Amino acid sequence: MNSVSYQAIGEIGVITVHYPPVNALSLAVRTGLGESLARANADPDIKAILIRCDGKTFIAGADIKELQKGWHLKNPTLGEIQAMLETGKPSIAAIHGTALGGGYELALTCHARIALNDAAIGLPEVKLGLLPGAGGTQRLTRLCGPAAALDIIVSGRQVPASEALQLGAIDAIVTDLDEAALTFARDFAARPAPAPVIARNEAIAGIDPDIFAAARKQAARKSRGAEAPLAIIACIEQACELTPAEGLRFERAEFDGLFGSDQHKALTHYFFAEREARKIPGLPGELAAVRIERAGVIGTGTMGRGIAVVLANAGIEVRLVDTNSDAARLGMEAIKGIYDGSAARGIQTRDAADAALKRIKLGGYEDLGEVDLVVEAAPEIMELKRTIFARLDASTPPRAILATNTSSLDIDSIAAATARPERVIGAHFFSPAHIMKLLELVRGTTTGPEAIAAMMSLAARLGKTPVLAGNCDGFIGNRMLQYYTGQSEFLMEHGIAPERIDAVAERFGMPMGPVALRDLAGIDVSVLVRKERMKTLPEGERMSPILERMVEAGRFGRKNGKGFYRYEGGERSPAPQAAAIIAGVASDLGIPAREFSDEEIRDRLFMPLVNEGAKELEDGIAIRAGDIDVAWVNGYGFPRWRGGPMFWGQSVGFDKVAGLALEFGERYGPRWRPAPLLETMVRDGVTTWREAGY
Ligand code: 3HC
Repeated sequence: MNSVSYQAIGEIGVITVHYPPVNALSLAVRTGLGESLARANADPDIKAILIRCDGKTFIAGADIKELQKGWHLKNPTLGEIQAMLETGKPSIAAIHGTALGGGYELALTCHARIALNDAAIGLPEVKLGLLPGAGGTQRLTRLCGPAAALDIIVSGRQVPASEALQLGAIDAIVTDLDEAALTFARDFAARPAPAPVIARNEAIAGIDPDIFAAARKQAARKSRGAEAPLAIIACIEQACELTPAEGLRFERAEFDGLFGSDQHKALTHYFFAEREARKIPGLPGELAAVRIERAGVIGTGTMGRGIAVVLANAGIEVRLVDTNSDAARLGMEAIKGIYDGSAARGIQTRDAADAALKRIKLGGYEDLGEVDLVVEAAPEIMELKRTIFARLDASTPPRAILATNTSSLDIDSIAAATARPERVIGAHFFSPAHIMKLLELVRGTTTGPEAIAAMMSLAARLGKTPVLAGNCDGFIGNRMLQYYTGQSEFLMEHGIAPERIDAVAERFGMPMGPVALRDLAGIDVSVLVRKERMKTLPEGERMSPILERMVEAGRFGRKNGKGFYRYEGGERSPAPQAAAIIAGVASDLGIPAREFSDEEIRDRLFMPLVNEGAKELEDGIAIRAGDIDVAWVNGYGFPRWRGGPMFWGQSVGFDKVAGLALEFGERYGPRWRPAPLLETMVRDGVTTWREAGY
């Protein structure tokens, strides 16, 4: 079947795009569109043109794979198609699914846009480090005004049809799209067409210039270091100042600048990595995932509450179990608070929040007789978890999947407490579970394909980004984290102030530096975790005693206002007492103060992540380097525009990463040594993870 077909229905030229999976604007689609438009424009019997799509969605944008090859520049370009539309016969876009990026930009050059009620529009180019380069910044601003354009294009969010209609981004919502589109087109054919969007001026008159300054401030806060948001704001500002032709030229120049950027490359890598992470090699293709309708959650602490909310939001009936009835009552009250908060902030409608809350009921193990899944979120004590799993094994149907939300314990030992180890899996949610996107699924030695498939499919339903990890201390994410935070302490021993270390990490794009992160997590908690870890450390492994000294001095972190920083009125400021403790450690250990450049600090913090990630690939803990990137972007706030730690490591060079690991191995112990995989890659001149098979 051709990717674009043309049919004359009476006076209407109907152009249908058929290019699965998402009708992206490939060269083939553009060629088909160009030919069809030429036919319609040349046919005197045709009075109006209708553009519609087959399949699950309207055009979802430029073809990202072809963009990587520069094929968007091949003729006919999208700009040429748009010119044919804008100067041709009256045209209508009939939108179902999502009209995104170049797809919505094409619709913006039509004379009208109609959509189904469950459709959405959006300009998500920012997520690829780009801006809408086919007039999107100019036309949307002229159609809906700069405030709406800033919101939609800088966020890249999908705008539901109802909101799009209110904003004027579409002209009508209809129930029978094909029928209504033809009626609309016939009506169009009978009267003068409205002015093209690019020629409209009403929405850009009398604009308060402060909105652009405010948008820049917000972008600096929300997407620190990202280039595309700032370029988008500049384009929208210019749309209010320049003529249409000048504005389009300005946008083109900005687009070209971003197109050549490292950020665009990194974000394109991330786009495909996120999709690939959902694909698990070795799972039988015919395996239909078990659908989860009823679930139990064990534990009503912070994690249990968040997990119950996530499940209920996806329409799942939840039994919340806590053997301590006071804790259960408090947990339920906190859940009500979460729903009140999300209704008040407009994240959910009050009705949706109330309906979800109704799905969560307190209960006991005896109420779990019908569940498809249980997520256990009890304290991190192995014996407690094993007791709970033995009890769950007895009180749930044998088909039910039993998941543990442990962030560190051995999945195999937990699975061994049941008679169904193939249905036991780790489901590591990140706190707060109802907000954080990452769901790190952990496969034990015995975890079966059905449990993995069911949890992968559930993750999509919950709106989470899943990554499958193997079973080891810390799984994918936390196993790496200890090197990042550990390195910050070694830097402090050399006299580098916490605020300088954090400033470097934050300028790199992290939401919070490693030292502030320690304060947030609680230094006392870190000390406890380390005590356990130290039991299994190899000979010659060094850990800085700074944390223990801090705890001895009563400095626990943010929770008591005294950590590496002082916290007063929610603000962090340098803490001279912490500086004295750090200096004391350095002097006791005889470590001289040293100067480090910002770049050295950056490398010392982030290169060990890459080294440990390589070890995870070798150990089979992570399937692909991209999976590690997805975990770090969604679970730890690693800047998406750097592609994730592994992509960043690849871009700085494996030789540098391995070189620093060699130095660290000698200085801090065997765990810091270079990953053998990295050494082999450097020796063989391999420069990408892909080339190495990861
Ligand atoms: N180009 C090429 N492939 C694409 C694509 C695109 N624009 N959008 C999606 N795909 C592919 C995915 O890689 C995936 O392939 P796979 O099955 O081999 O892994 C397949 O289509 C299905 O995608 P999803 O798994 O994401 O499907 P969903 O149903 O969950 O989501 C979607 C569909 C909302 C369309 C989502 O895919 C999406 O957001 N796509 C990206 C849209 C986008 O960024 N458009 C802008 C492109 S840049 C542009 O238009 C520049 C212009 O301004 C000049």
